[in-house]
Amino acid sequence: MEIVHVSAECYPVAKAGGLGDVVGALPKYQNKLGHIAKVVMPMYRTKFLMDNEWVVDFKGHSYIGNRFFEYTVIKERYNVLEFDLYLIDIPGLLDREKIYGYADDTERFVAFQIAIVDWLTHWQHQPDVVHVHDYHAGLIPFMMQHCYAYNRLGSIPSVLTIHNAQYQGWMGWDQSYMIPAWDSWKAGLLEWKNTINPLASAIKCAWKITTVSWSYLDELRASANGLEDLFEYERGKCAGILNGIDNEVWDPLTDTYISDNYSIENVHAGKHANKLQLCNQFNLDVEKPLIIFIGRLVGEKAADILPDSIMSALYGMPGAVNFLILGSGEPQVEWQLKNMVHQFQGQYNVMIGYNEKLSHQMYAGADFLLMPSRVEPCGLNQMYAMRYGTVPMVRATGGLKDTVIDMGDPGGYGIRFYHASVGDVFHGITRAVKAYEDSRQLGDMRARMMQVDNSWDKSAQDYVNLYQGLT
Ligand code: ADP
Ligand code: GLC
Repeated sequence: MEIVHVSAECYPVAKAGGLGDVVGALPKYQNKLGHIAKVVMPMYRTKFLMDNEWVVDFKGHSYIGNRFFEYTVIKERYNVLEFDLYLIDIPGLLDREKIYGYADDTERFVAFQIAIVDWLTHWQHQPDVVHVHDYHAGLIPFMMQHCYAYNRLGSIPSVLTIHNAQYQGWMGWDQSYMIPAWDSWKAGLLEWKNTINPLASAIKCAWKITTVSWSYLDELRASANGLEDLFEYERGKCAGILNGIDNEVWDPLTDTYISDNYSIENVHAGKHANKLQLCNQFNLDVEKPLIIFIGRLVGEKAADILPDSIMSALYGMPGAVNFLILGSGEPQVEWQLKNMVHQFQGQYNVMIGYNEKLSHQMYAGADFLLMPSRVEPCGLNQMYAMRYGTVPMVRATGGLKDTVIDMGDPGGYGIRFYHASVGDVFHGITRAVKAYEDSRQLGDMRARMMQVDNSWDKSAQDYVNLYQGLT
């Protein structure tokens, strides 16, 4: 089958979070299964763009409202990512350094989507599936079926994967001029609660919807940032397919980002060496358990409870544990986390920002990874942690519920708790400290989690089965 993935992110070209990881890995695994999976994304001005060679695949033009724009589709020449990668350049709109965060993001991503459907109408043949990811590509199923200029694409199955339903790309009706002329009887397919809602539109128009874990799909019917009824109504079209991880990128034996490579055979020594490097760099105590947090410092991740949770542990169990945080997000949380450093020198530290290399070193060197998320559609961090023998401490929600078995249950290797509260996190930390003291138990848990297969092999096939049901 020929599958065209459309996404705002794709690792290592441009990544802000897990969406990038998924779109950088799933197509590779689909190709391994004998299919032709391609990725189309905006041509941001990233290092990957500068470091690789490109050929021009197509040049076209279109309109966003009455603004004329030209676009160029370039293709990476040597297939370095093991799938065909296409970038869409729209001068003045997509040629920026960052992925998101500009005042004209709506216009940027609508133009991106117009360029894609326009380009697809110029293909000599039709792909078997157009697979769109999140709201940035959410208007494509509507455009393929109901915009006059792209009628030719109406019979191509489209699939939407929801990585995060919190963000929906809302547009006022005063911005409807950006969408190419459509059958006005179909306006309802763009709308949810009196505004244009690209995510809702994709849920209505795509042939199939997937969420990135089974539990998240269940949870969306009760809590979906306003879309609950829509998920209930469209439930027949929805399926959960759990994310995988790229076992080649995330392998402690070959990872070039970490200071000391290791495998399940020498996990104890290997992790200790990495921890030593980390503790030296961040002034922490290598003898004490090290608990880390990596991620966006936002409400969904319950980052706001981190400062109090850490303080309660450092006051409540003096000298028992170390913490290291890597992330960026809400200024108030960043400020609190930074302010605590001088107060807890030698047992706590934080790095505000995004740092891919450091994140790998942390998965390798930490003993425990904390994820108290309020909402977690899947979560990849816990799976990376498991691959590196780091015990996941998670709130049992979404994908965290589907991937982490508590150490008290048969075959377990993690710490689960039920509320995103300081009390629950504190209790989790006391369990972590105890588990750390029992080196045999810790060793068994590491061995068990490192043997869990979270690779994309199975889920890539699940997606293919889903597409095959449509064609
Ligand atoms: P989300 O996509 O909601 O942010 P995921 O758990 O799916 O959450 O994926 C997060 C990805 O982003 C992981 O690869 C994680 O290691 C990475 N990541 C998050 N924050 C940072 C950061 N500050 N520095 C480096 N990597 C980060
Ligand atoms: C989103 C979710 C995260 C998920 C990722 C990849 O960013 O917040 O839970 O793992 O997408 O699907």
